Amino acid sequence: MQSTTLTVNGTEHRLEADERTTLLDALRNHLGLTGSKKGCDHGQCGACTVIVNGRRVNSCLTLACMHDGDAITTIEGLGEPGNLSKLQAAFVAHDGFQCGYCTPGQICSATAMLDEAKAGWPSFVSDSLEDKGDLSDKEISERMSGNICRCAAYPNIIDAIREVAEGELA
Ligand code: FES
Ligand code: FES
Repeated sequence: MQSTTLTVNGTEHRLEADERTTLLDALRNHLGLTGSKKGCDHGQCGACTVIVNGRRVNSCLTLACMHDGDAITTIEGLGEPGNLSKLQAAFVAHDGFQCGYCTPGQICSATAMLDEAKAGWPSFVSDSLEDKGDLSDKEISERMSGNICRCAAYPNIIDAIREVAEGELA
């Protein structure tokens, strides 16, 4: 057993768990935060995406004990009914989901992705490494390509992200 301290959505938790426990299982099974979803459990779908120290991470691919002292944000920490984050509200407004299983990961990923774009990080489809440019639909699609939606709600997901990007990156 390993003792690990995780700060999740601003609250410190002392976790006593087998060293092999993934961050996703720690969040869901030990801390009861079931917003982060287990889709593939091997880094293929993005449903488990959370934000660790400001960076998006597939929580199924990393062990909880590797995050001693880290600050973790899950979908529960981004907003709540009546106080949604901009992206959460935009996903609702644009109908950016069908079954909703991928949605927590999509929103956590998009939240950190917008921070990456604001910081000027280029993507594989950026015209240059220096030019920040706008977040075109092509850029949003590429930057969100780690998050699969089996319902194929992609057009509405892009609409939701674009709306927030236009407000924040303009
Ligand atoms: Fe982690 Fe699919 S459950 S990437
Ligand atoms: Fe069903 Fe994306 S809304 S998988």
